[in-house]
Amino acid sequence: MRRQLIAGNWKMHKNSETARGFAKEFIKLYDFTPEVDVCIAAPFTELLALEEMFRDTDLLTAAQNMHFEDQGAFTGEISAPMLAEIGVDYVIIGHSERRAYFAETDEMVNKKVKKAFQWNITPIICCGETLAQRDQGLETHIVRHQVVMALAGLPDELVAKAAIAYEPVWAIGTGRVATPQQAEDMSKVIRDVVRVYHGDAADSVRILYGGSVKPENAKEILDMEDIDGALVGGASLDPVDFLKIIQAAEN
Ligand code: PGA
Repeated sequence: MRRQLIAGNWKMHKNSETARGFAKEFIKLYDFTPEVDVCIAAPFTELLALEEMFRDTDLLTAAQNMHFEDQGAFTGEISAPMLAEIGVDYVIIGHSERRAYFAETDEMVNKKVKKAFQWNITPIICCGETLAQRDQGLETHIVRHQVVMALAGLPDELVAKAAIAYEPVWAIGTGRVATPQQAEDMSKVIRDVVRVYHGDAADSVRILYGGSVKPENAKEILDMEDIDGALVGGASLDPVDFLKIIQAAEN
């Protein structure tokens, strides 16, 4: 049985006051359920505060990105050991916004995934096609390629621990959500390709859906057989909405 993972992705939102306000309210509302892991990917500047506030809870933290080297002359970057030192549990890698605006390549994603595991941080590896690619019927080709490249050279035991988020670019922040069947179909494609390259790790790897997940649509998406959680952007900014999505994963 795979545990569901509900990951909030705050992107470049919230400051120290609003992040702490969220955490305070959310800790009050949140009731641990053994079937679901919950993490929040906050901006780097808020991660330590969240770590401290979540210490006596089952809530976990995530970074939204990291560099693939441990240290060095990389102005503006944050490394895996820096995240590990403050206790960060997950890291989002290869989000489509990183790929589109910061020129992240499949090779960089692969290096980051390996580095995250070295420091015991679980990567949430993002993949997904653009609208133009889907219109040309290229979506499965694109997603398979991204997944194979991201996991290249990783031992199967680590692949089994990874999370892969399918996030069609046309559904991110647009309010246009993939149908549960579209999300399920692509999750199957992902699980199948993981099986080809990494055998039984395919049964353990968690596959999330991301792209305009809201309290209203979460349940039908999370009920799909091959979907093991959600990566939630906009709706994770509000504690009540985020909680409703977690509750949808519970039942
Ligand atoms: P969204 O973002 O839920 O606001 O569409 C999802 C994501 O980019 O991870």
